[in-house]
Amino acid sequence: MNESIDKKVYLNGDYLPLTEAKVSVLDRGFLFGDGVYEVIPSYSGHLFRMQDHLDRLQISLGRIRLEFSYDLSKWLEILTPLLDNSKDQYIYLQITRGVAPTRDHAFPEEPVPTVFAMCSDIKPFAGVETGVKALTIEDSRWEMCNVKATTLLANILLRQQAIEQGCAEAILHRNGYVTEGAASNLFAVIDGVLITPEKTNEILPGITRQVILELAENNGVQLSEEIISVEALHTASEIWITSSTREIVPVIELDSKQVGAGVPGPVFKEMNQLFQQYKRSL
Ligand code: PDD
Repeated sequence: MNESIDKKVYLNGDYLPLTEAKVSVLDRGFLFGDGVYEVIPSYSGHLFRMQDHLDRLQISLGRIRLEFSYDLSKWLEILTPLLDNSKDQYIYLQITRGVAPTRDHAFPEEPVPTVFAMCSDIKPFAGVETGVKALTIEDSRWEMCNVKATTLLANILLRQQAIEQGCAEAILHRNGYVTEGAASNLFAVIDGVLITPEKTNEILPGITRQVILELAENNGVQLSEEIISVEALHTASEIWITSSTREIVPVIELDSKQVGAGVPGPVFKEMNQLFQQYKRSL
């Protein structure tokens, strides 16, 4: 039902069938990609780490200088009717700088944001069990990767390049060190230590990343947030990519070379188990 094209979506205060939800061609989201978004998992109707997602949304809005704010209870009121308690799903939530009278790069004087939300089922991803292949590619994105902006042209071109070479993800690098995936954060086990690049403007501060850091810390997994060179990544015994929709996915082949034993590794298995337990405990 929820996956049908006529599923109910939220647009600017109304609930409409997806096919009837329309925005103007003058919406700055359409013309400029002038907006931000969130992807929030919902496990059996419970929105996962909702406050963290809302905090990140508020930071993204602040960085693009779009004045807009709803509190947790308002968002729950809006989003709850979209959820199905019997499923694992995710909310896609987008806020743009709205419709302006003409196409002008400058901000409209009194923007009226467009607020859109829809819910989709989380489809099981086989790569979690089998592991996936990944490709390192030069990071061609801008300098505000910590903003969850709808402007994703670089990300989609990079992901597509990886897909066309039989890989599930592009692992991006700048100046010889890795940043993150085209739509995921990156973890590696190097010399027995779980490492992830530290939070800078060059990566999105992933909520899944944050949960893994907390779980690692609470369960005595040796952990470090630091720079990883492309060279060091190639020596990793395990590599994972993480995101809200796919959770933790092991990378078993990088640049056509086997990672570790070429199967999902022991640290991944431990962390995935901790993650699944944590998720179900909420
Ligand atoms: N993307 N880095 C980038 C560039 C991302 O696009 C994402 C997620 C992440 C992981 O963040 P989180 O753990 O909060 O999902 C990191 C979402 C899922 C998307 O664009 O669909």
